[in-house]
Amino acid sequence: MSILTFSSPEAGAAEAARRLSALLDAGELKVLGVATGSSPGPMYGELASRGHPCLSRLTVFALDEYIGLPSGHAESYRSVVTREVAIPFGLDLARVHVPGEGPPEAYELAIGACGGIDLQVLGIGSNGHIGFNEPGSPFDSRTRRVTLAKSTRVANARFFNSPDQVPMHAVTQGIGTILDARRILVLAFGSSKASAVAAALEGPITPDLPASALRTHNDVTWVLDAAAAASLSANTLENIQEASS
Ligand code: F6R
Repeated sequence: MSILTFSSPEAGAAEAARRLSALLDAGELKVLGVATGSSPGPMYGELASRGHPCLSRLTVFALDEYIGLPSGHAESYRSVVTREVAIPFGLDLARVHVPGEGPPEAYELAIGACGGIDLQVLGIGSNGHIGFNEPGSPFDSRTRRVTLAKSTRVANARFFNSPDQVPMHAVTQGIGTILDARRILVLAFGSSKASAVAAALEGPITPDLPASALRTHNDVTWVLDAAAAASLSANTLENIQEASS
């Protein structure tokens, strides 16, 4: 595991994009798992502006999707992935997969048929969720329908006209699905993430804090800004922080 801390989210996004670009260069990134939400957007933008020749050949699997939004809703994750990833990367939409558009088992099979996810991009909820795996989600969970925590619906109300419009349910890759990815990149920016980041990296490894499951994976990189890293102990930072700016 490595932890990179940056003075700003923009600096973190730029370094994350540089790393993904290096994996494209090495031929080690063909299937990308994408989180939505606000954390990864700048990294996707930075990656698109680098214009790597392999970018448009990626196969993409979204991490999750709301249930119950009208088709084409601007905040459905299908729409967000089209807007923030597929169009800027120049992807053929046939290679952009979003859960919830068929049975959950079919999503797992589709990931397997593409050879598995080379790198999964994640954000983290202030309650420690990854994907929409809310506290209590088993570490061996697979793609399935879930009920969103109240705190998640409150946090995501900023994307909707009113909190009532945030769906109650979603489909998400499970924690087990996420842990099957060969590499994982977690982006967390801002003070609202500080306690979840510290709990994930320093607290007990427990389903009560889903992101703590990432400590059981052997290739996870955390990209943090100073505010998100603020509650980490000096010991954590000294022992596992890589050189960063
Ligand atoms: C989004 C997702 C969520 C978000 C998390 C952080 O696809 O799965 O786990 O990554 O809620 O959201 P932001 O980045 O908006 O703070």
